[in-house]
Amino acid sequence: MSQRRLLVTAALPYANGPIHIGHLVEYLQTDIWVRFQKLRGHQCLYICADDTHGTAIMIRAQQEGRDEESMIADMREAHVRDFTGFDIEFDNYGSTNSDENRRLCATIWQAIRESGLVHEAEITQLYDTVAGTFLADRFVKGTCPFCQLPGQYGDSCDNGHHYTPVELIDPISTLSGSTPEPRQAKHLFVKIEELHEFLEEWTQSDDHLQTEVANYLKGHFLHEPLRDWDISRPAPYFGFEIPDSPGNYWYVWFDAPIGYIASTQQWCDQHGESLDDWWRSETCEIHHFIGKDITYFHTLFWPAMLKTAGFELPTRVHIHGFLTVDGEKMSKSKGTFVPASNYLKHLDPAYLRYYYASKLTSRVDDLDLNLEEFVTKVNSDLVGKVVNLASRTARFVGQTGLSEAYPDDGGLFAEAAGQADAIAQAYETCDYNRAMRLIMALADQANPYVESQQPWELRKDPEQAGRLQDVCTVALNLFRQLAIYLAPVLPRLAHQTGELLGQPITDWQQAQTPLIGTPVAKFTHMLKRVEPSQVEAMISDSREETAMNSETETPVFNDSAEPLAAEPLAEECTFDDFVKVDLRVARVVEAAEVPEARKLLQLTLSLGGDERRTVFAGIKAAYEPSELVGRLVVCVANLAPRKMKFGTSEAMVVASGPGGNEVFLLSPDEGAVPGQRVH
Ligand code: MSP
Repeated sequence: MSQRRLLVTAALPYANGPIHIGHLVEYLQTDIWVRFQKLRGHQCLYICADDTHGTAIMIRAQQEGRDEESMIADMREAHVRDFTGFDIEFDNYGSTNSDENRRLCATIWQAIRESGLVHEAEITQLYDTVAGTFLADRFVKGTCPFCQLPGQYGDSCDNGHHYTPVELIDPISTLSGSTPEPRQAKHLFVKIEELHEFLEEWTQSDDHLQTEVANYLKGHFLHEPLRDWDISRPAPYFGFEIPDSPGNYWYVWFDAPIGYIASTQQWCDQHGESLDDWWRSETCEIHHFIGKDITYFHTLFWPAMLKTAGFELPTRVHIHGFLTVDGEKMSKSKGTFVPASNYLKHLDPAYLRYYYASKLTSRVDDLDLNLEEFVTKVNSDLVGKVVNLASRTARFVGQTGLSEAYPDDGGLFAEAAGQADAIAQAYETCDYNRAMRLIMALADQANPYVESQQPWELRKDPEQAGRLQDVCTVALNLFRQLAIYLAPVLPRLAHQTGELLGQPITDWQQAQTPLIGTPVAKFTHMLKRVEPSQVEAMISDSREETAMNSETETPVFNDSAEPLAAEPLAEECTFDDFVKVDLRVARVVEAAEVPEARKLLQLTLSLGGDERRTVFAGIKAAYEPSELVGRLVVCVANLAPRKMKFGTSEAMVVASGPGGNEVFLLSPDEGAVPGQRVH
């Protein structure tokens, strides 16, 4: 087998939030692949970095009253700590806010300019005169110009109408609460359509992409001319200023993927290697691992940039689906939006590494973390079938070591050795689910051997000492084979196995030859059973943590001035004005998703007796339907009915918050009864 050179990347996590178990799908999937390649003897680099630029980070820093640099430095430390805790081992972890990245951006930019692909155009955007900044779509709210639905974001409304922020009626900046004004600004665009033919060819050939991804691109983007890519943002913007366009900054998605190269550059500088051997060499394979949400950037813009600037194109972009927990999207209120650091407080990282491996295939499908299955799978496979082989035998050969010759095992070792290629092929194609099934099938053959030989009985009879040693030699070698095959997924177990049997696991080929005549170290515990109570504690902690976080953001006695600034007090009203609004206590008796609406839940409210109201509320991102049923809320009961695409909304539930997943329903204190008026 000839040695391959592989450069592998995982998407660069945003520096505006901590790593959570959803992210970990990707960083673990990639780590397993890299560890597998290294175990096979290939030269392989795992490159990553923090993605530090853009509006969201700038705004968060402003809100926290600190500069961006110190915020991204703290976040980087937290990210690295979490990755290390999960045994995710990068060869280099850089930052997009680095000198290397700035230089590479300039080089690539120049190449794009020289190719004549850049053009300038004035575009009209909303400008917040109070905050002193142009507003990205999600920082503007107003009334939909098509259906007059109020409180909608700058790009589309809950009824599915698309528009630009400038078209919104009565727009309000969510940054300052002021009315933004349309202003013209110069933007730079890349004419990506000029690379259409190349992109068509690249996306559809040579297995660069999974078939479903190639088809998606063809059906959604490549069937018509590609739109120019708006690559610049006017100041203020946290990022790199464009050298030949002062006052304009590269849009974060321009410099983020270049961060892959910049992080490789750092590694090369530290190891005396040349960047060209990795990014401009036909013999080096480049593999990107990403989630399905960022397909577009990695399969159209990024290849276009690389091609224009004379870098090698990715050998393959491996795209995975999104994580759900117990069949639903991760939810902060349910505690299933688990931060990596919280998981580590309660559970061994090996459990999640194995569980995700058992779920991941080479397809783009979403994958589900079923918490009950998580417990049973880890306990029955890892503890019950794998570690058990060692824990039931190693102690009996502590004095003697392994037999001098490999005993007759009825062909078990040879059969497991013969599976090496099939398991390797499954890892290579990212079908870890298959790899895990093949490995567990071998464990299912090894365990009956130990059961039938009963070493714990043999040890009671001194005359059986030789047989006992042989049986344990077989069991420990079968165990070691499994540990080698599982090494990409369970590096700690591989390490412990190396310590136990006196030979580190460093190579896939080691599964071909049994160990004989070596000492066996004192057996120490390898992997504990996972208890359902630990999982419950993690979930309830994540729930609590979210609640605590929101408290820290707006502490009870030191509330931030920001909400009031974002939405200044309305004009004074009289008591008579106020009583026109009939607020009532209501009970949610039914709650359901509205399949076609991204943000809406359909609620049925009871006002007592048979009095019911149907309400369409934009609270889908913040609440699961099941947690609302039975809850008391406050509603505006005499609001004129409003016809919507999905039905008529007959009332409104009262809530605070800026929207999205930050919506907080108001609930009356205990004792309130549906139908009571709120005064
Ligand atoms: N900063 C960009 C990537 C730039 S790459 C040049 C970004 N960052 S992210 O932090 O939002 O996501 C990082 C990776 O984690 C992405 O590939 C994303 O798809 C993946 N995931 C984030 N949440 C996820 C789940 N809930 N489930 C599975 N993967 C998820 O995108």
